Amino acid sequence: MKQATLDFDIFSKKVVLITGGTGSFGRAFAKRLLSSSNCHKVIIFSRDEWKQWEMKQSEPIFNHPNIRYFLGDVRDSQRLARAFNEVDFVIHAAALKQVPAAEYNPSEFIKTNVFGAMNVVDQAISAGVKKVITLSTDKSVNPVNLYGATKLCSDRLFIAANAYVGARGYPALSVVRYGNVLDSRGSVIPMWKKLIESGATSLPITDKRMTRFWITIEQAVDFVIECLGQTRGGEVFIPKIPSMRLEDLAAAIAPQLSHTYTGIREGEKLHELMFGPEDSRHTLEYNNHYMIIPEIYHQHPPLLQKFVVGREGKPVPEGFSYASNTNAEWIGVDDLRKLLKT
Ligand SMILES: NC(=O)c1ccc[n+]([C@@H]2O[C@H](COP(=O)([O-])OP(=O)(O)OC[C@H]3O[C@@H](n4cnc5c(N)ncnc54)[C@H](OP(=O)(O)O)[C@@H]3O)[C@@H](O)[C@H]2O)c1
Repeated sequence: MKQATLDFDIFSKKVVLITGGTGSFGRAFAKRLLSSSNCHKVIIFSRDEWKQWEMKQSEPIFNHPNIRYFLGDVRDSQRLARAFNEVDFVIHAAALKQVPAAEYNPSEFIKTNVFGAMNVVDQAISAGVKKVITLSTDKSVNPVNLYGATKLCSDRLFIAANAYVGARGYPALSVVRYGNVLDSRGSVIPMWKKLIESGATSLPITDKRMTRFWITIEQAVDFVIECLGQTRGGEVFIPKIPSMRLEDLAAAIAPQLSHTYTGIREGEKLHELMFGPEDSRHTLEYNNHYMIIPEIYHQHPPLLQKFVVGREGKPVPEGFSYASNTNAEWIGVDDLRKLLKT
């Protein structure tokens, strides 16, 4: 992914709250802000006191004088109201995200990923937060599993909420959507590593043809910072990132092991999609990302003009899909091996 120049001045003297701050993304984002910006406060908002305590102990930076640990559940609107007091930017990263768990516990996923998103939106508007970004996934596009369906609802809640902010004009609420994060909690790499450590002679792969978009956690963090700088509210930002074959990843991790094909699991796609032909009509392309414009702006030229002025991009061809199997950019075995080493 092409690295943009990041403007850390936007965080100067600002209070930033991260829901799901103890997760893979939250920790990396907090670390980046505390080490590179002059922010006033970073608030870690999550449920589990133990994870917060463990985070605080894990690295000196997580004991920084500007970091606060706030216990709360995004399902609890009152608690969010308290947490958002005098907050400038919210990054909404709290979610339940395990696909099989969602199939078995749909109501829990709906409560956290949909009602939780609704609470974040409502309380951010009430508290006068300036900018809110929620993290989305390629699984929210034409979803085939409940996790993806809940993230689709969440995306739409954030985009639609821009119509409710009134004359005040803030918060700007937008969505950053990306693919699988390399080596994140619950992903295939830690699972394979465990198998290798326990002496497995073969790695399970669901399907030989399977492809996925991949991003590193550092790239995801930097992209969110870039989008926070430029959001005007209502955009879905999508980074240009490479695809890879699951087979190549397995070969990069353990070239000596054979592969066992286990079949596509319930709720899994062979290839992922960041946006499809229906969105291509109102999507612009930039150097390192795509931006889906809300339909409402697209249908009203004066509004559209105002929305894109100063950041005019190239319209993507009508009918274009940004899919993991037809992506122009690929990462192969050798580059994956190098990436995994770092
Ligand atoms: N990892 C990926 O490959 C990937 C790819 C695309 C998009 N995303 C999206 O990126 C976001 C962050 O993912 P991640 O990998 O950082 O997830 P993660 O490591 O599983 O972290 C999830 C965080 O959310 C918190 N949380 C869960 N339920 C909560 C609730 N009801 N109220 C408050 N906090 C809650 C968890 O802490 P507690 O349990 O202590 O509350 C934890 O801090 C998610 O929205 C996910 O959908 C992830």
